[in-house]
Amino acid sequence: MKTIGRNDPCWCGSGKKYKQCHARFDEKLKEMADAGHIIPPREIIKTPEQIEKIKESCAINIAVLDYVGEHIKAGMSTAEIDQMVYDETTKRGGVPAPLGYEGFPKSVCTSINDEVCHGIPDEEIILQDGDIINVDVSTIYHGYFSDSSRMFCIGNVPEEMKKLVEVAKECVEKGLEQVKPWACLGDMGQAVNDHAKAHGYSVVKDIGGHGVGLAFHEDPYVSYVTRKGTEMVMAPGMIFTIEPMVNMGTDEVFVDAENDWTVYTDDGMPSAQWEIMVLVTETGHEVLCW
Ligand code: MF3
Ligand code: CO
Repeated sequence: MKTIGRNDPCWCGSGKKYKQCHARFDEKLKEMADAGHIIPPREIIKTPEQIEKIKESCAINIAVLDYVGEHIKAGMSTAEIDQMVYDETTKRGGVPAPLGYEGFPKSVCTSINDEVCHGIPDEEIILQDGDIINVDVSTIYHGYFSDSSRMFCIGNVPEEMKKLVEVAKECVEKGLEQVKPWACLGDMGQAVNDHAKAHGYSVVKDIGGHGVGLAFHEDPYVSYVTRKGTEMVMAPGMIFTIEPMVNMGTDEVFVDAENDWTVYTDDGMPSAQWEIMVLVTETGHEVLCW
């Protein structure tokens, strides 16, 4: 690789001199790499301009989830949720990212009770009193991607399922506390996992989070079954999701043989998931989407 002069324009496109922009950043990453850590590739470090655009996409994602939260209720089909997401996204100028993504047929994922993720909306799937549901919304706006999900409790949900939903949210918060420059993704993963385990729950190991912003799924792959001090170093300008799937029982899952999408728990026990998008900043982190 051609080395960049300290007075040359920075590689990030800011127009600033390298020495006044990412020179220290690169030094720090070199140190971390020399110490044996995995470091992020440049293409996943977002510029301030890209971050602004990604935030516009996030604003739509948040508005759509808010709208779903205000309207979701027992007796409604998941196809109605899909229609709401399509309408609320497109009227704001966005495109639902799931629609047609690797053949996914709908605009949103709706996963109920023992469905872990990637549930496909259907007019025959009717929300029942006592259900818990994850609604996973992703938006493309002017080519920039956002992705976040929330849980909704429908009517009278049994206490132990409410607890699962609550702890799954706390897992995200515990992970988030670990997000800061030059720490490792494994610090975050372990914090998530420890909290789930402390409540007797398990975290799905076969499916994880991801970088996001310029594409739906970018590097790194983000696991929540990891150890402190391992996995990729977090550097300012990285954006990734924290989205652990927390199971009441076994962490074993399987994929629907017919639709090839919906993931279920092996033991039929419930699973809960919240997903946020987080930006690593110079001083810590900023939540972009929840
Ligand atoms: N929103 C999911 C995620 O968090 C991705 C779903 S892919 C889809 O990564 F095609 F099912 F939408
Ligand atoms: Co995601």
